[in-house]
Amino acid sequence: MTIEEKVGQMSQSTSLATPFSENIKQEIRQGRWGSFLNAGSPADRAEAQRIARQESRLGIPLLFGRDVIHGYRTIFPIPLGQAASWDPALVEAAARTAAREAAAEGIRWTFAPMLDIARDPRWGRIAESPGEDPYLASVLAAALVRGFQGASLDDPASVAACAKHYAGYGAAEGGRDYNSTWIPELLLRQVYLPPFHAAADAGVATFMTAFNALNGVPASGNSFLLREILRNEWKYSGMVVSDYNAVTEMIAHGYAADASDAARKAVNAGVEMEMVSTSFRDHLPALVKSGDVDRKTIDNAVRNILRLKFRLGLFDEPIPSPATSHVTPDSLAVAERLATESTVLLKNRNDLLPLSNSIGSLAVIGPLADSRVDQMGTWVMDGRAGDVQTPLAALRQMLGDSRVHYVPGLRSSRDTNQQEFSAAREAAGRSDVVLLFLGEEQVLSGEARSRAYLNLPGAQDALVDAVAAAGKPMVAIVMAGRPLTFRETADKVDAILYAWHPGTMGGPALAGLLFGRTVPSGRLPVTFPRSVGQVPIYYAHLSTGRPPLASELGVPAGTPVDPHGYTSRYIDLDFTPEYAFGYGLSYTTFEYSNLRVSAATVPMGGTVTVSADVTNRGSREAPETVQLYLHDVAASVAQPVRVLKGFRRVILKSGATETVTFSLTTNDLAFYNEKLQPVTEPGQFEVWIAPDSAGGVKGSFTVK
Ligand code: BGC
Repeated sequence: MTIEEKVGQMSQSTSLATPFSENIKQEIRQGRWGSFLNAGSPADRAEAQRIARQESRLGIPLLFGRDVIHGYRTIFPIPLGQAASWDPALVEAAARTAAREAAAEGIRWTFAPMLDIARDPRWGRIAESPGEDPYLASVLAAALVRGFQGASLDDPASVAACAKHYAGYGAAEGGRDYNSTWIPELLLRQVYLPPFHAAADAGVATFMTAFNALNGVPASGNSFLLREILRNEWKYSGMVVSDYNAVTEMIAHGYAADASDAARKAVNAGVEMEMVSTSFRDHLPALVKSGDVDRKTIDNAVRNILRLKFRLGLFDEPIPSPATSHVTPDSLAVAERLATESTVLLKNRNDLLPLSNSIGSLAVIGPLADSRVDQMGTWVMDGRAGDVQTPLAALRQMLGDSRVHYVPGLRSSRDTNQQEFSAAREAAGRSDVVLLFLGEEQVLSGEARSRAYLNLPGAQDALVDAVAAAGKPMVAIVMAGRPLTFRETADKVDAILYAWHPGTMGGPALAGLLFGRTVPSGRLPVTFPRSVGQVPIYYAHLSTGRPPLASELGVPAGTPVDPHGYTSRYIDLDFTPEYAFGYGLSYTTFEYSNLRVSAATVPMGGTVTVSADVTNRGSREAPETVQLYLHDVAASVAQPVRVLKGFRRVILKSGATETVTFSLTTNDLAFYNEKLQPVTEPGQFEVWIAPDSAGGVKGSFTVK
């Protein structure tokens, strides 16, 4: 290969427009592009592939990448919603479905899974994240890699996955997208890196560097991340792509003087393919000539890129013909199940839910009751609004048109026009129960969609007030890309289902939950703050030397109490969150009892089993996600008050008891010490088997 051909493989472009230009065809013939992203129709991609394979000197196939984030044609819940299912097998099935649909249209590489731990709901990309916890995120990371990549990459229904954004992107200052992150290495290793490590261990084919500067060094020029950790420690042998323009953005960061400097720093740090910006194409040949970049660095990068193309079978496949993916009964069934399992029941006063089928009529109100596009959420390139089944449509189908009184009340989640409020109140007055579909429209979460307020936007709170005047039981169904703060509205309604953006089948899934055909089982993958002023707030925090006291609860929101005591809290808001990590109700109640630990003392290197009885005390069969938490009581580095160490989904019949058992080796108790080594230290450990991060039954053991 000539240096130009090598650098071509390391270059990725968006410029495969429909119809694509003679100029691009010529560049493909010359081997000047290795990959295209988010570009072209299936027919364009097939034709571009034909040119690359048949008309370029070396016949190297192109690799088409795309943001297949939570579905391709069939749209599943946003990733944060999928995380709320705590169901890796189902998340894997959804990724498999997405892979099949994308691959059929010539896409063999997805820029997913996004594995950025996110503890700040202001950040719009929390919607794409697996939430705040490294253990849950790691389990999901492996499931997503398995789903996208299948049993083998050369299965024509598999797509190469991409662990992104490496690393620390989710800790952006102030929740402002693209912002700096300052993460001490200990915290990086303990919290932010584990999901990436899990993806690497699961065989993820590619990594994407992040936009942010981590501790002052942009991730796309960060050899500590890319060489020291990824290659040397994790022995990763896949390929590394930059994020969109992230190489040349190192100039704006103040880290590179110009595009040539950026190319040199990125490639020397370990970036192997440049997304969109063209500093590699423009400068690498000269940089190799001048000796600023070693030819071996280029050869290694090209080797990793070509190996991926071989592994995907791209050299051997027949020249593709254009094809179109469609939703199928199977894909819709997975989407409906995942939307069902992702939905979290936050409140259910007097067991208002599930509603009875014999109900007379329903008022369906709110800007998200019938909004096909909004329901799909962020990062939907190929999902079609026409495939989406909304709650309004599903409820009408279930109950018949005449029993559903629909008044949107607001045109969109941001609308402030109250003209329709009296019609909404009147519809509520004619109905037995009011369903309020509230939240955030599609464009309010995702990339570059940071918010400084976490409230329901527009006049939604006022809409709830107007409708409440009718005096009917009310259920709020919230669709949003992040945790929202909506305390006043929550107090006014009887029940709340938090549905995130549930995707194509959100309507039937929600109708099924509302009427008890299914039982809610979603659990929060992220802490919900009481107010934006509490952010960041997450369950696995350190205790501090002055932890707040339960007796200090009851602070009236926004009104400072007489300052007393010297503990770590607010004087104008309770220190606890609105809803804890792991929280979620069911239509039944589960009782946790009888925690047993296999031995009071565990030798270093040994195993301890922890079990508890979980009993379904309600009248219906239901799934329950049983969670295992641990606390290392005294260690050479202070440890969080609790950390998740396991979870299991069980389905219990009414009245049934199941003993749920977890085993932990002493390796599972390890943390990073001051020398940044993973260690387990002898001493006492507390352990909980729990329905969420705030409750549960507790025991302890000692490691000797
Ligand atoms: C995003 C990535 C995405 C890429 C390609 C960037 O702006 O940060 O997550 O994969 O664009 O669309």
